[in-house]
Order: sequence, then C-alpha cells, then structure tokens
Amino acid sequence: MNYIGKEMRRVDGIAKVTGRARYAAEFQVPDVAYGYIVTSTIARGRITAMDTAAAEAAPGVIKVLTHHNAVQPAATEREDAQPDLSFHALTGDRISFNMQPVAVVVAETFEQARHAARLVRVEYAAETPHTDVLALLDQAADPSPEESPPPRGNPAEALAAAPVRIEARYTHPIEHHNPMEPHGGIGYWQGNRLTVINKSQNVHQDRGLLAAYFGIPVENVNVISLFVGGAFGSSLRPNYYTFLLGMASKAVGRPVKIVYTRRQMFTGHGHRPFYRFDIALGADERGRLQAIDYRHVINSSTTEAYNETFFRNARTMYACPNVNDSFQVVETDLPTPQAMRAPGTVSQMFAIESAMDELAYALKMDPLELRLVNYAETDPETGKPFSSKALRECYALAAEKFGWKDRNPEPRSMRDGRLLVGWGMATGTWAAMQQEATASIVLKDDGTAVVGSATSDIGPGTYTTMTLIAADSLGMDASKVRFELGDTRLPRAPSQGGSWTTASVGSAVHGAAKALRKQLLELAQTDRDSPLRGLDVEAVEFAGGAVRPKGGGEGVDIAGLLRRHRMPQIETRHTSTPPAERENYATAAHGAQFIEVKVDPDSGMVAVTRVIEATACGRIMNPLTSHSQEMGAVVMGIGMALSEATEVDHRFGRMLNPTLADYHVPVNADIQHIETMFVEENDTIVNELGVKGMGELGMVGIPAAVANAVFHATGKRIRDLPITPDKLI
Ligand code: MOS
Repeated sequence: MNYIGKEMRRVDGIAKVTGRARYAAEFQVPDVAYGYIVTSTIARGRITAMDTAAAEAAPGVIKVLTHHNAVQPAATEREDAQPDLSFHALTGDRISFNMQPVAVVVAETFEQARHAARLVRVEYAAETPHTDVLALLDQAADPSPEESPPPRGNPAEALAAAPVRIEARYTHPIEHHNPMEPHGGIGYWQGNRLTVINKSQNVHQDRGLLAAYFGIPVENVNVISLFVGGAFGSSLRPNYYTFLLGMASKAVGRPVKIVYTRRQMFTGHGHRPFYRFDIALGADERGRLQAIDYRHVINSSTTEAYNETFFRNARTMYACPNVNDSFQVVETDLPTPQAMRAPGTVSQMFAIESAMDELAYALKMDPLELRLVNYAETDPETGKPFSSKALRECYALAAEKFGWKDRNPEPRSMRDGRLLVGWGMATGTWAAMQQEATASIVLKDDGTAVVGSATSDIGPGTYTTMTLIAADSLGMDASKVRFELGDTRLPRAPSQGGSWTTASVGSAVHGAAKALRKQLLELAQTDRDSPLRGLDVEAVEFAGGAVRPKGGGEGVDIAGLLRRHRMPQIETRHTSTPPAERENYATAAHGAQFIEVKVDPDSGMVAVTRVIEATACGRIMNPLTSHSQEMGAVVMGIGMALSEATEVDHRFGRMLNPTLADYHVPVNADIQHIETMFVEENDTIVNELGVKGMGELGMVGIPAAVANAVFHATGKRIRDLPITPDKLI
C-alpha cells in the first residue's frame, strides 16, 4: 500500500493510446453545428464594412456572427462575477492585432463553414501597426511601484568599484506553446444553462468568466475538460474561442464546435513575449559577485498590460549584496502574451546564466566553481532560510555523472573528428508554490473510492499521481481508487499551472484522506465489540482496505464496516492551504544542467548530444512521470535554445511562420542522450507531502547551458536565441 515514491504507470495511459480518452472537440454531441473563425488581414485599424451575404447564402450555412449581431459581454454587477481583462472577439470594430477574429461562420459541416468563411468580405480603415519592441523602446513603461522594489544595496557604486566586470545584451524571440491538441471545444445551452466542453487548465475559472460574460449565475455554467493534449500555459485562461462557443451556440440554438486551425493558434492565445536583456555583473578577483544590474524589456499588447514580474531571479539566485532589476514593457499591436512553461524565469535565467558563463571566462575560473563561490545559503533578498535547498548536491551529482572535471576550458579545444565539442553548464530554479485546493472522497461499501478535484491534467500525469496519493493515504489498493478531474461539478482546484498541482491538489487529497480515516475510525468504534475501541487515529493503520491497531492485532474491513452500518458510502471533503510556517522560509526548487554539444564547423549545425540534469524538488511522488516531466522540459529547453522562434513581419504586424513546418519544435532526430536525476529533499516545511513542483523547473537553465556549450565549442558567444546555423558560420 506504499505507493508514494514508487513508479506507477499512467492510469489513463491505455485510454490515451487507444483513443478512448476524449479531448474537448472529440466529444460526440447530437445535432452539433460547426463554427469557423474568420480573421482580420490587418493588424491595426477599424472595420468599416462587412458583407456576409455571400457566406450566408452558401450551402449549409446557418448563421454568420459578427460584432453587429453577436452577444456582447454582460454589464454585470453580480457579486460573483470575476473581472475579465482578456481580449474578447466580436465586441467591436477595432482591430488590435493581425489575424484578430472578425466573424464566425456556423454551418452544418466543418467544410461548409470553412468554405463560407472565405466568402465573408471585410473592409478596413487600416493604420500602421507597431510590433517591433526595439523600434518602440522610447515608449517602454515601468511596472507599477508595487512591482518595482527598490535596488538592494548600491549596485551602481559596487559595479563601478568591482575589479572584474562584464556587460552583455541578450535577446530571445517570441515563442508559441504549440501543444499537439489544437484549442477548441463544444458549447451548448439548455435553457439558461451553458455547458462548455473545453481545453482548459482551470475549469472553475472558465466557468466564472463565462458566467460573467453571459450575465448568468455561476451555477448555470458547467465546464468540462477531461483530457488536455498539452497546453504549457496556453489554456491558463479561456481563450476567445471559449466565449465564441457560448455566443454561437446561443445564436443558432444548437451545440456548436469550434477548433482553432494551427495558424489560428499563433494568435488565438498568447505567446512567450520577446525579451531584450541588459546585464552587468561585477565581481572581486575571487569571483564573489559584488553587483548585479539586470534589466529587461518585453512586448505586450494594446488591449492588456502584461508583464512577467512574478519572479525576480537576479535578486534571488546568487548571494550578492547589490542588485538592481527593472522590468519594462512595450505596448505593441500584437495579441497579449501569455505564460509559457517556466514564464519569466526561463527567460531571466537564460540571460543570468549566460552572463555568469561570460564572467567565469573573464575571471578565468571554472563556471561551476563560480556558482559555488556565490551559492546562496539563505534567500539573498529576504534573508530567510530555505525550507530545503539541495542545489549543491545537484551540481555535484550532475558534474560527476557528466565528467565535468575533464573539461578543457579553452574554447575550440575539444573535438570529435571534424566536429567541435562544447561542454556547458547552468543552473535552474523554480518557486515551490502552493495554492488553496479542495478535494472530495466518496468511499463506497464495495471497497472502492472516487476521489475528485477540478484540476486538469495537461500531461504531467495528474490522474496517476492523485490516484497514488489517495491510495497511499487511504491504505487502499490503487486499482480500487478512481480520481476524477476537469469538471466544475467537482470541488475547486487552482489552475494547473505554476507547477503547483501536486503540492496543492495532492495536499487536498492527502488531507481529505486523513479526515476520512478519522471518520472511519470513529464509525468503527461505535461497534460495541470493536477491536479498535479506545485507540486514537495515530494508534491505528489503514492498509489493504482495513484498519487495524499499529503493530498488529485484529482489524476491521472498511467495506464490511459500511455495509454493517447500512451506509452505501461515506463522503468527505477537505480544503488545504499552504502551511503558515512557510512564511518564515524561502521555498524553491533547484537544478543543475550539464550539456554537451557537437557543432559542425562547416554548416553551423548544433546537436545537443548529451544532457545530464539533476533537480531537487522535494519528495518525488512518482519517479516514472517525474522523469517524463523533466525530460520533456529539457526537450522544450533545447527547442528554445536552438530552433523555436515566431517571426513577425513588422511591416504588417503579422506572424510569418504560423505552422509546425515553419515553427521548429524539436523532433526525435534532434534529441539524443538525456538523463534526469533527482536529489530528494526531506522538506517538512513546504507541505505535509514534502512536494515541490517540477514541470517547469526542468526547462530552466537549458537554453543558457546550450549557449554556454556552444561558446565552449566554437568560441562564439551567441546572445540571441535561437542559435541557428547562420549565427555560427
Ligand atoms: Mo504554466 S506556463 O504555469 O501552465
């Protein structure tokens, strides 16, 4: 019955590979009609005229929705209405980004809707779009004062006085999440009740925002999202199609299905913003950091102020008395960015960890040694101790496994035949966050349990991990436990984001199981001749579907207990919140990445031939899915380092490569040896399970480690991602 820490195969694995797992748009709903989105051809301006007559007359067309006839957001004063700042389609004539939705054609078949969409005529008064952050720097805005803490110490003075300094500018482009499953779903009304089957990372939030939009009570909305084929942040909030499902199905009085095309996915949800970083580091001769000056500027949109200010890695990564950071944002005529795996941190750490490598070369010091010299024993910003921090052990383990001590630091000194070999390293980190979450357990008199919480499973294996936590905590066989998620009829869970699901929902499941054990013991003790009489919950153990005194003795079969008491089932529900004790500690997960690249000196092609990553993220619930998380994160980091970029044609404000043929995510042929290891931490502060997040952690540090390895291989410091061959020849 001890499942925590042991490998468990995915409970939904067979359903997924046999096609039984149904993704949002795959649900079969009777009488469904198909919506196809028409998008703008300009990036900025107004719609001056629309002619939908030809589309309406086309075969199979039921309705063409535009801003003239679509349901507009309810001006609701309801107390339970959530504020919604996000972009909504068909709410006016203003165009604020290229490929903005301007109409939805609803028809009997997908093909008829797509055909008629091409017949919608739109006239615009176009204005010149501005999408190039570098051309708009004079308009860069500082975040609010609350988001702009004053510098620590006196960075300008300390930098000027530092005997060793480096200064560098880095950039990375806009990137798109590109999950396999396109965004989409099905909406239908039953009277005044709306159901949306959606691709979602947070069904309860979608429900609240849909209720607010349509001016109906929250209880009148159900959102269902049982399987999600990847999201990486792109479904953290309902994208505009989600509201279109409600609008279109209301307009035609039938269920409507809408799915983004792959092209529409480049404007239908946000993106990792463009970043430009300016960094200056100052150190003494022994490599001890004296000053960090970190600045970045990113793009946002005209419809929403977006900035990734939630993590300040320059302040917290290394022990340094003098730190300045500033996070500027530029309005552009692009869709609003959106959190994309390890948002903020993977970007900041690309710049910081590249700069640390440059500093190591300036100091003629080993890059790993430089990290150890500046190791933060306590949180440099607050002085709080870490609840746990096994980063030093990660460095040691990964360096040993990699063979780092055999590295000749001289660039271009290592070869494999005609290929240049480079070894680079970097550090990763991610906050160990936890949110309020509620879970329910229904234990039945047939000895099975249904555990529920309205989280989602975008791929990390949440179905499996929650099943094993519940089985472990209840002392039941995992095959008797079913975990349900992705339905607003289940108790509220936070978004599946921030890598906080296992800490948050896992704690709720664990807490509910504890509460249920207490209820069961009390029930058993009402039996006059119970062998458990007088024992408190600490003195008994739950195993094999029974409860018995610790250390042996006669037990009570739980299913039998319920049947004896004529209780078909017993229920409990528990809400967990982050333990108050966390306030006295800094809580973060860490990792070390060591990477080997081989570079073809003639073509400039880079192959990542070996990745050794060690991460420390508390206690590992399920090594199988955990390693999958870290390996996937490494792959995404390699994509960010070498190939991923959304190119914008700034003349037209248009995404130039909105297809998987032109936007290059790593494929199997790009991936060679990846080895992920965990240094488990026994953290009794973060939460009772000792769990930190890992889904984003594994990606952080990879882009810098690749860039550092490329420098070692070639002697060329590439400060602009991705590192494409043209930059190396
Ligand atoms: Mo993640 S970017 O918080 O889904």
